[in-house]
Amino acid sequence: MRYFIIGFAVIVCLVISTAGFQGSFTRNSPIEVFPDMDRQPRVRPQALNLFDELLGSGDGRGSRLPVSGTVARGAVIDSQSVNSGRKEGTEDWIEVNPVELNLDTLNRGSERYDIFCAPCHGLAGDGAGIVTQYSFTTADLHQHRLVQLPDGYLFDVISNGFNATTNEVGIAYSRMPAYKSKIAVEDRWAIVSYIRALQFSQLGKLEEVADLDKKAELQKTLEGN
Ligand code: HEC
Repeated sequence: MRYFIIGFAVIVCLVISTAGFQGSFTRNSPIEVFPDMDRQPRVRPQALNLFDELLGSGDGRGSRLPVSGTVARGAVIDSQSVNSGRKEGTEDWIEVNPVELNLDTLNRGSERYDIFCAPCHGLAGDGAGIVTQYSFTTADLHQHRLVQLPDGYLFDVISNGFNATTNEVGIAYSRMPAYKSKIAVEDRWAIVSYIRALQFSQLGKLEEVADLDKKAELQKTLEGN
């Protein structure tokens, strides 16, 4: 019985000391059984940044300046044609790819195209990528319209995506996704060059075939059709 009374007293004390003073005011910090991350280390505005001081690299300021290259949400990032595909200060597309065209660019474009575009548009750009086997429709990049449109337009489609097809309740399906965040600017232009090469590969004329035997062979095939 004695132990019971002592035990009981201890429990009563414990309960009162942890829960009994809820709602009363005190300047002492509360006893926290589970702090629930209520208090965390932080830097007060305008105060010295000790963390910075400890690491010894920065200027010790608590309020940090934005990292260089930071762009506020909604701000115009860069109006240069090379980033937008449009003539500066206008809505017009630039006609010609601003990135120098050489074998390296084409190879890079080909590699990036095979990675990012071929699953949907097919290795040949004919719109017969693997996804078409799973009821997804894509676009044929050899369409006359796309051959005619300026390079800036293709760059914009890669950057911001494209969607012309909506179903009867207006929900977009078969979207062309935006690749701005995934493919660097130069790589996007390299892909544009490669699309042009793909398009050109389908637009050859018989007169342009240099090899005479090949030309005769092609002539025969054409006449056969
Ligand atoms: C997830 C599948 C998918 C991928 C990957 C994809 N596209 Fe598309 N793309 C589409 C679809 C779908 C359309 C047609 C959208 C429509 O008509 O509404 C399209 C349309 C286009 C068009 C035609 C726009 C027009 O005006 O008709 C171009 C150009 C194009 N894509 C280029 C690319 C390039 C370049 C890449 C690689 C960076 C790429 N696409 C990757 C699905 C894809």
